[in-house]
This record gives sequence, structure tokens and C-alpha cells, in this order.
Amino acid sequence: MFSNRIYCGEINANDKDREVTVFGWIDRKRDLGGIVFLEIRDITGIIQAVFDSSVSAENAELADSVRSEFVVSVTGKIRERTPETVNPNLPTGNIEIFASDIKILNKSLVPPFPIDIRDSINEEVRLKYRFLDLRREDMREAMLKRHRMMQITRQYLSDHRFIEIETPILNKSTPEGARDFLVPSRINKGEFYALPQSPQLFKQILMISGFDRYFQIVKCFRDEDLRNDRQPEFTQIDMELSFVTPKMIMEIIEGLIKKTVKEITGKDVNYDFPVMDYDEAMSKYGTDAPDTRVGIEIRDCTDIFINSTFNVFSSALSSNGVIRGFAVEDGGRLSRKMTDDYSEYVKKFGAKGFPMFKYNDGKFEGGISKFITDDEKAKLVEKFNLKEPAVVFFSVDKEAIVNSTLAHMRMKIARDLDMVDNNKLNFLWVTDFPLIEYHEEDKRYYAVHHPFTAPLPEHAEMLDNITPETARKMKAQAYDIVLNGVEIGGGSIRISDSAIQSKLFSVIGMSDEEARTKFSFLLDALQYGAPPHGGIALGLDRIMMLLLQRGSIREVMAFPKTQKGQCMMSEAPSPVTEDQLNELSIRVVRK
Ligand code: AMO
Repeated sequence: MFSNRIYCGEINANDKDREVTVFGWIDRKRDLGGIVFLEIRDITGIIQAVFDSSVSAENAELADSVRSEFVVSVTGKIRERTPETVNPNLPTGNIEIFASDIKILNKSLVPPFPIDIRDSINEEVRLKYRFLDLRREDMREAMLKRHRMMQITRQYLSDHRFIEIETPILNKSTPEGARDFLVPSRINKGEFYALPQSPQLFKQILMISGFDRYFQIVKCFRDEDLRNDRQPEFTQIDMELSFVTPKMIMEIIEGLIKKTVKEITGKDVNYDFPVMDYDEAMSKYGTDAPDTRVGIEIRDCTDIFINSTFNVFSSALSSNGVIRGFAVEDGGRLSRKMTDDYSEYVKKFGAKGFPMFKYNDGKFEGGISKFITDDEKAKLVEKFNLKEPAVVFFSVDKEAIVNSTLAHMRMKIARDLDMVDNNKLNFLWVTDFPLIEYHEEDKRYYAVHHPFTAPLPEHAEMLDNITPETARKMKAQAYDIVLNGVEIGGGSIRISDSAIQSKLFSVIGMSDEEARTKFSFLLDALQYGAPPHGGIALGLDRIMMLLLQRGSIREVMAFPKTQKGQCMMSEAPSPVTEDQLNELSIRVVRK
């Protein structure tokens, strides 16, 4: 019965006079006294069925007895609708099924929210009743397009000689980035597996084993604080290649992304993705994932104010701070209330304030203008290429706070002034990241990408003599891909020399013993003919979120977790029985 099934949304005028049976859910019902209209929905869309009591009173009565979300099968003949009954809002709105039979296959309780509207509904309720929420148009679209993206990826990468190999989910815990999710072992009491944060080491091992192009569409798990673009389990399109350069990897990814964008959104991305190095991204945008749809750029003004007597500036400079800012053109649109609110808002980035002045009719006005000398004014006009009316904002603090403040405020102001074009897709490669960074809090170095990333060949020697200053200069062969200010992927060329790998472990504070305990298999494998290799992983959920213009990653995942890491539907995580705990030799300490 199901083999040659016809789907509601796929019926069209060419099917006129055809006898069909459709299966689906009741989307809407209307009873015009003697004539009952049912809109029936399946995975492809909706079609209207008409029951005329003068043809079959019994069928019309049965049709009238159904309610929303009942499951039915309807048989009848396709006919064109009369002009006055055509529904232009429905793709099948010019035809209908003139029904001769209806079967109620199952009933439904009244759903807690309507399925047939796109209105905003409380997200927790949607997630609790995800089985119903997934019937809604937006979720259906997201799931179908996500499936399409996975198909395109598999086809494209297979065409480029990649092979899909699965790597283990139960792994050794080697936390380096985020926290691991742990799984207790019953057979090895007191010992734990960790769920993979990514298949990083296994894909490198596969290169050493000779599978020179690997990919996997793979679930990764990270126990970190959640945000709109972060879930504890998410999907990567993970890749690794031997005998490659960053340029080759970037070309392959650009090809995949252009194909995906075309198929998912219909848009052509007909430009080469720009490449910007990390230092430029940080100095112009204050972030390594800049949204280049917004033209506002940061300028360093530390030199201009080096002799300033303005207390805010001089005290920041005397404690090794920096002064940077940006100009907002057409600044007349920024009200006094907005600029006042901003100086409060910036506190969440650790800034103490958000000094500003206006530039109008060739004059500096308001804010801190009275503390700026004529000489400084002339330099500022030149630095920002000021065109009136403009408003210039500054951040004055330690570099990290200044960067974070200006990066966030640049986007906030752009959004407040409607300067962000939501139809644009601005892709960008960011390259030449620092290899390691020094953290003052615990006085040690951390790998910026991950500790398997290779330094630029000409910087490898710097590993022998690391200071916080040289660390800033030592660059990695690492690259991120950014779309509209969101990091959608990242990768690097890896260290394929075991001596350099050991050296890097030691620089990030790992003793030889610890390195061997955690990574002995990698260090061993690197000594048995490791080819030069590198790779990248794309965040599939993030890409879908951006291409479908959804506000959160949860809108493109079938069963996401809430911000608290819970599944509202299944109620995971949940306590387990004493017996389960005993079997695992685990005792829970309850505070
Ligand atoms: P990285 O940690 O940069 O690299 O991750 C790659 C991409 O995965 C996505 N991503 C996430 N998406 C949703 N929720 C999360 N919690 C989350 N964390 C990361 C991002 C990110 O760009 N093994 C390396 C890749 C490599 O070097 O080849 C890795 O995992 O889009």
C-alpha cells in the first residue's frame, strides 16, 4: 500500500482526474454545512480534500468528526478548484481531492499549541512536545534541508576521493579544550571513557595509516556553557588530508560551501572567500571572527593620546592600557539615550565606560570633546577619515577588554541602526593564528587551536625559547572559516614530527610522563612514517542556522538540549537507580 505512495504536497494540476489515496494529519477543518473541507498534511506539504454530503453523507459525517492532528487516509479524485476557491497561499491551492473515502487511522488529543501557524510559541513547551513541534513548517524545512546538506557533503567529498570512516564514541579522556562528558566502565571499575570532543586524534591516526582523505559527519560532545550557537552535542563535518597545504584545504571547503549555499538557499556565492590574517582581524574588528557585513572598523588611537592630560586616558596608558575606537557615520541617528545606555551596556565586557564625542559641522561636540586638544582633533579626523555627522566611541583599558568591548559594540550599534544586511553571506578565512597564548591567571601557555597544530615552519625554532612576548609572535598554520561573524569551522596543518609534538606538549606545561599517559599512541604513531597532514572541521548546525537565518542552533536540530543541558522531552539527564550505581561502583555525593 505504501510503495507508490503519492504525497500531499507533490500533487499538482497534471494529476487532474487521477484517483489518489493520501495519508497524513489533519491540519485544518472547515464545515460549510453539507460540505466539509479537510486540509491534510504530510512531510511534503498540504492538500485540501472536499467531502460532499450529497455524494456520501456517511463520509461527510466521518470527515466532520475529525479534529486537528488526527491521522487519516483519504481517497478521491484530483480536480481543479473553481477560480473563487483557489488558495494562492498554498502550493497545491489550485487543486483539491474530491473525496470518496476517508479512514481515521488514529486520533489525537488537542495539541498544546497550534501546528499550522508560524507564531512564536514558548520554546520550553515546544521542546517538551518536540514530536508535535517537528510537524511545524519551520522545523520540517530545517530537517529536510539539513538532510540535503548531509547528502551534498557526502557526494561532494566522495567525488573528491574522501572516504567516510567512523571513529569511536567511547574514548580516553584527554581534556584539553572543553570539559569531557564521562562514561563509567562497568568492566573496568573506577575507570571512565570520555565522549569525543572531536575525532581529532583518530583522524590523524588514519592519515598515518594511509587513508589519505578521510571525512565523517560526526557527533561531538563538549561539556561547556551553552549559548545560542553552542550545544553540548553537535555535528561536525570532519575532514583530514595527507600531503596538503592550507590553500588546498581552503579550496575544497569553498567548493563544498558554495554548492551547499546554492542548494539550500538558492543563492550564488560568486566571489573567492577573502583571507585575512589574525592580527588584521583583531586590530580592525577586535575579534578573530569578524562580521564584515558591517563596515565600521576599529582604529588604534593610543599614540594620538600619548600625552593626553585627560584623566581617563592618561591613567589607562600609565597601566599599560590601550585606546582604540571606531567612528559611526551618519551618527545623527544615535540619540542621547542610546549613547547613555551604551555606557552602561559595555560593563558586561569589563569596560568601565564608553567615552564618545560627536563630529558635526567641522566641530567636536559633547561627550569627552572638551578634553581633546586641537592637535589631537586634527589627528582623529585623519585617523577615522571623519565625515560629518559622525559619532566616535572609544574603549580605554587592557587590550583584551578593549577588543571585546569594541567588537561587541560595533555590532550592537550596527544592529540598532539597522546597518546589518541580513541577505548577505560574508564568508571569510582567518589565518595565521598564534600557536599558543599565555594565561596570566594560571601563569601557563595554552594551545590556541589544539596542541596538534603545527607552527609556521619558519617559527618552529621559537618553541625552544618561549616567553609571553615570543608566544605572541609565533604563528600557527591554522585557519578558521567565518560566516557573518560566526566561526563555522576551523582547522590546521598538524605536527607530523614526534620531537616537535613532544616539545609543544612541554611548552604547554605537560610533563613527558603526562604526555605519554595521555597521548602515547599518537607519539608512537608519529614515529612510524607519519605523512604531512592537516584538516578542518565545519560546524554543521551553525552553518544550517545561518543559512536558514534562524536565531539559534536549536532551530535546526531535531532534539536539542535547553540552555541548562536538559532534554525537555525525554527529561535527560536523570537520576539512575542504586543498582545501576552499585554495578558501576559509583557513589553519588549529594550536597
Ligand atoms: P573546533 O573546536 O574549532 O575544531 O570545532 C570546529 C567547529 O565545530 C563547531 N562547534 C560547535 N558547534 C556547536 N556547538 C558547539 N559546542 C561547538 N563547538 C564547536 C564550530 C567550530 O568551528 N578537531 C578540530 C578541527 C580540526 O582541527 O580539524 C575542532 O574540533 O563551528
